[in-house]
Amino acid sequence: MTDSKRKILVTSALPYANGPIHLGHLVEYIQTDIWVRFQKQRGHQCIYVCADDAHGTPIMLKADQLGKSPQELIDQVSAEHQRDFAGFMVNFDNYYSTHSEENRHFASLIYQRLRDAGHISRRTITQAYDPVKNMFLPDRFIKGECPKCGAKDQYGDSCEACGATYQPTELKNAYSAISGAAPIEKESEHFFFKLGDFESFLRGWVNEHVQSQMIHKLNEWFEAGLQEWDISRDAPYWGFEIPDAPGKYFYVWMDAPIGYMASFKNWCDKNGVDFDDYWKQDSDAELYHFIGKDIAYFHTLFWPAELKGAGFRTPTGVFCHGFLTVNGQKMSKSRGTFIMAETYLKHLRPEYLRYYFAAKLGSGIDDIDLSLEDFRLRVNADLVNKVVNIASRCAGFIQKKFDGKLGSELTYASLYHEAVAAGHTIADAYEKREYARAMREIMHIADKANQYIDNAEPWVLAKQAGREAEVQDSCTLGINLFRVIISYLAPVLPEVAEKACEFLNIDTLAWNAIEQPLLDHRINKFKPLMQRVDEATIEALIEDSKQSLQAQPQVQSAQPAAAETELSKEPIADTIEFPDFAKVDLRVARIAKAEHVEGADKLLRLTLDLGGETRNVFAGIKSAYQPQELEGKLTVMVANLAPRKMKFGVSEGMVLAAGPGGKELWILEPHAGAQPGMRIK
Ligand code: 2FM
Ligand code: ZN
Repeated sequence: MTDSKRKILVTSALPYANGPIHLGHLVEYIQTDIWVRFQKQRGHQCIYVCADDAHGTPIMLKADQLGKSPQELIDQVSAEHQRDFAGFMVNFDNYYSTHSEENRHFASLIYQRLRDAGHISRRTITQAYDPVKNMFLPDRFIKGECPKCGAKDQYGDSCEACGATYQPTELKNAYSAISGAAPIEKESEHFFFKLGDFESFLRGWVNEHVQSQMIHKLNEWFEAGLQEWDISRDAPYWGFEIPDAPGKYFYVWMDAPIGYMASFKNWCDKNGVDFDDYWKQDSDAELYHFIGKDIAYFHTLFWPAELKGAGFRTPTGVFCHGFLTVNGQKMSKSRGTFIMAETYLKHLRPEYLRYYFAAKLGSGIDDIDLSLEDFRLRVNADLVNKVVNIASRCAGFIQKKFDGKLGSELTYASLYHEAVAAGHTIADAYEKREYARAMREIMHIADKANQYIDNAEPWVLAKQAGREAEVQDSCTLGINLFRVIISYLAPVLPEVAEKACEFLNIDTLAWNAIEQPLLDHRINKFKPLMQRVDEATIEALIEDSKQSLQAQPQVQSAQPAAAETELSKEPIADTIEFPDFAKVDLRVARIAKAEHVEGADKLLRLTLDLGGETRNVFAGIKSAYQPQELEGKLTVMVANLAPRKMKFGVSEGMVLAAGPGGKELWILEPHAGAQPGMRIK
């Protein structure tokens, strides 16, 4: 290791506490986790913190919709998020929540310091208000006709048909996406952060701390002028009340990045580390935020300005990344490429995806594509055929012929030294987040190792009398090269690395340990470290993704969490308009027959009697019902859903069920007097 021990604090963006983790999220967490593991392997003190982003209107409304308190919802989602992150080996030092006392403390402190320094202004503004729900409506919760092209059902900030941007007040025939009521205008006093006060600081800061690919975008923002930022929201709001303003709450994006501090403070208190050492203005610790490019405005302008204004240190670097596409397109539910973390893990090892992302990731903001066929081929070619193969080709001979003992010197040592020397380039690539370059370098070493073994042919030598020493020498070098390669891959493949340590009978894969080869050293029996990915597994994953989204109860949105932000264009997942709802033809149906579907984990095949007409429907309720207990029951179905071709046949409608999932899923059962075919109003 060349540089002395660094103190590094790293964060990934805080996921909203109202939706599941999917592969799109994981690009960032895997990218960050690899970087953190690399820093730890190099011997630095590197702390990785994260939390759930637990506040805001969408979470409040979702909890309401589910009949839960916001606290219940965020607790449940936090547990699911942590399960999924752990499943992908994302190893946070601390995972917390923005709804915490530490966060309340820092949000209030930063606000008070900004206010006292004159960086907060107050003024009364007029906003849309839902007279039925008695709440102000964020722009994304107002819909209506586009003022430019007249397209119906457009969001309050932009038109998806013609791309126009506008104020929600400009929408024609506007309605609340929550209640359907026409919004009224209402005045209220709001608090604004005067971002413009920090313009000259920010112009200098961004050049040093943000990727060059982002600078162009930042310059556009500077040219457009730094507007005052509305950091307050009126009750009812799920968040922290502003200290000197009863009934006013911090906007979710005000306390979200402060959640990084809060999670770190929580970790410091548990580990006896001095928080100020990392956050004081002249701290010698490094602070890095990994984020998606869509939330750069918050992290490269608001956040450093807030920290500066409140007398804290500012970030050392904000690392933006691009989005994920699957098979070259946006993730799609109908194509089965909207893949949840949990669904993936039922079929495939996390390290396959970690490696594939690493093999694709650079330091820039370009989107990356998960091509599932390329994924399969790449994992098989690189990890199974190249890397793991080195060990499996050599281990048997060492075990059988030399009682597990490696030779006492390295023949052809130059190859070993070359592999060790490549560590500088590989470390440089990891450090700069150029993981694709690091993976190419590592695979280059693996190719050379395999070529060496091909030429040495220990399997031929082993059959020839008097050539034992050569067999031991070539396999000793092969195993040592394997150790070097696995050390380099350890940030990406933590479990394989751990198992490789057991096989190699070593305690550590510290970056510089490879300088000493393993000689006169006993290794353990080799066990296969990784299996090939086959086509059927990928197909099953896609099918399961289609099914698991379909099987979600109506109230559980499978969409990514909707961001309550003026800058995000994510659709709101949980609301439809009344006219859309009115189109749904709900009918009473009698379950004439219910059967298992061979090969389907979640589905039952139902034959539904609609009073003269029968329908074949696949329902994702297998976890909750035995077929025989359903037969004869009345239920409610969507009768005008377009038929869907599924792997197991055509589904001609949908049965309504609700509940959190698993055994707790209930089909709707109308009272016994209802007649099959009866329309539900
Ligand atoms: O866009 C999002 O998903 C936000 N929840 C990210 C917040 S990151 C930080 F600022 F808290
Ligand atoms: Zn339009």
